[in-house]
Amino acid sequence: MEKLLLKYDDYFLAVARPIIEHDEYQKMKVIPHHHGSVFEHSLDVAYLSYKIAMKFRLDVISTIRGALLHDFYLYKFKKREDKNLLAESYRHSRNHPKIAVKNAQKYFELNKKERDIISNHMFPVGLPRSYEAWVTTIADKSLALTEYTTRVYCFAYLKLYLHLVQKSA
Ligand SMILES: [Fe+2]
Ligand SMILES: [Fe+2]
Repeated sequence: MEKLLLKYDDYFLAVARPIIEHDEYQKMKVIPHHHGSVFEHSLDVAYLSYKIAMKFRLDVISTIRGALLHDFYLYKFKKREDKNLLAESYRHSRNHPKIAVKNAQKYFELNKKERDIISNHMFPVGLPRSYEAWVTTIADKSLALTEYTTRVYCFAYLKLYLHLVQKSA
């Protein structure tokens, strides 16, 4: 795990460690999210949120803790073929913050801002009530977009590669 943490600074890790080393939190390593895991995604969202929160002199500790736990729902989101994908995605968007906050309260002591960050990060499904929650919402959306576009690029590259290999055969 230490190798994975090299890209984060000491202050961030000092605040994050009690959460990320928790056995329940470690379970997120096997839950997929775009091209990685929910574990990696949550750490990246928390780190970006922390950097923004520092810049705007916000509550950095609550930002890191809340952002780390924003997707602490601990289940695999499966798109079932027989179901309406849009309706299922909406349901997931609405439900997973509620489950995440419930899980987070079970294992960690949360303050009001941390609960706000987790509960309302899916804006416009929820409405952030603090600057810290807005920061995490924005960081989450921008990183999700990057993760998704990276996957699209990889797929396009793979298709092009296969096409060229086929042509040269
Ligand atoms: Fe989420
Ligand atoms: Fe997220």
